[in-house]
Amino acid sequence: MFIKVKRGWEIPESLATPEHVFFNRRKFLTTGAAIGAMTILSACDQKQEAQAQAEASAAPDPSASLYPFKRNETYTLDRDITDEQWAATYNNYYEFSSGKRLVDEAQALPIRPWTLTIDGLVAKPMQIGIDDLMKKMPLEERLYRHRCVETWSMAVPWSGFALKELVKLAEPKAEAKYLRLETFMNPEVAGEQKSPFYPWPYIEGLTVEEAMNDLAFMVTGMYGKPAPKQNGAPLRIALPWKYGFKSGKALVKITFTDERPVNFWQALQSSEYGFWANVNPEVPHPRWSQATERMLGNDEPRPTLLYNGYADFVAPLYANLQGEKLFM
Ligand code: MTE
Repeated sequence: MFIKVKRGWEIPESLATPEHVFFNRRKFLTTGAAIGAMTILSACDQKQEAQAQAEASAAPDPSASLYPFKRNETYTLDRDITDEQWAATYNNYYEFSSGKRLVDEAQALPIRPWTLTIDGLVAKPMQIGIDDLMKKMPLEERLYRHRCVETWSMAVPWSGFALKELVKLAEPKAEAKYLRLETFMNPEVAGEQKSPFYPWPYIEGLTVEEAMNDLAFMVTGMYGKPAPKQNGAPLRIALPWKYGFKSGKALVKITFTDERPVNFWQALQSSEYGFWANVNPEVPHPRWSQATERMLGNDEPRPTLLYNGYADFVAPLYANLQGEKLFM
């Protein structure tokens, strides 16, 4: 995404790393000898930690044998499926890079163990491992269009489960109006998370009604296999009627809340990126038109469709929200 970055001195509170994160390993006397010992030991600790992270990030995905999932034929495409090579190598994942070619960098993310926390205004708060969660959910494959706010698009066979099944598991309370989705925070493996220009971690949000819509989908895989790390493994969301930045990757927490979440891009540039971000060809981005899109792989230009072609599924969600900026 093209953004005007914040000035260097505007460091968000979340980025001020507490000292104990760095210095909680051992308590040493403050003598010169102890400081020397500390330097050597912490270097050893760091080496061991780096080795453990490298081993964890290279481990095979234990869910691989579950794939492929049965395709749900409700969701059809008006275009060819994008070549997997494109979908898996042209990515947005700012934790790893602001460029598109970030496959190598993303491999550093360890995706097991991986725990999803569900908290906030729910009757059943929980912490659940991704593999246990997959056992509880009805797994399926869906063909979805994906439209980035930058105007590129693709058509992908995602594997996963309907978000509404997860919502039902959590049993939201009546006061819960929104879901706040939070991505991992691990600057040791995601180098860009050390940058003070961005308000990490990556946050996204949607209403409970949107989450209960049939289209809202939690993604664990694509092209009949576990999703590659660069596409958001082990758990991301796909909201195909919204611009792609709403589809947060590598989710670790879902909080049910009565406050509308401020998302990552909105926190950076609220004049250009909003909460709803529904696709609309007639509402330009402040700096470019959204009237057409170009498909990854063949660069084929196509007219952008209202709600990215999913109006039949989602338009009723917005019938009483005319005062809202629904398309940015
Ligand atoms: N999620 C996280 N955590 N970090 C990101 O930078 N980029 C978003 C979205 N999810 C992003 C993210 C944007 S702008 C888009 S278009 C899609 O991921 C891209 O998904 P893809 O790389 O699988 O095509």
